[in-house]
Amino acid sequence: MLETIPDKRHQVKRNKEDKKVIWKDKYAIGVEVIDRQHKELFERFNKFLKVVRSEHSMEEKIDDIEETFNFMGEYVIAHFQSEEAVQKKYNFPEYERHHQIHENFKKDVMEFKRKFEEDKYNEELIMEFSGRILTWLINHVTGEDQKISKYINRKEEE
Ligand SMILES: [Fe+2]
Repeated sequence: MLETIPDKRHQVKRNKEDKKVIWKDKYAIGVEVIDRQHKELFERFNKFLKVVRSEHSMEEKIDDIEETFNFMGEYVIAHFQSEEAVQKKYNFPEYERHHQIHENFKKDVMEFKRKFEEDKYNEELIMEFSGRILTWLINHVTGEDQKISKYINRKEEE
């Protein structure tokens, strides 16, 4: 009898864990270098999620997880620089605000990286990090970054 009652908590958790960051063409901002970097970020991050969620032990996963942490740290910085250079080139009016959002995110990533290096096998921390990045990445690329796209398109029509 008890077995027929669906465990909702479990379902919610599973759905959340199954979440992926799938690149869609509508996310493109129309500047090739930026779109390529965004795609790369999505791809890398999906690989990371796959590793984190796999059934393997932490000992087996740790190298891949560490590689992603290092990659994210470096790539995110390089990507933000490119994106901000594009904003400057087009005199994007919200440059300062956008720059601040990037800076805050960078701090967040660095903070996680630091905690991770102190305690590499802290699965809870890794899950928290992956959840935060997943949400941030999707929201940022589909929200703030789209404003750049709209602005550039409008400018080019003028
Ligand atoms: Fe951005």
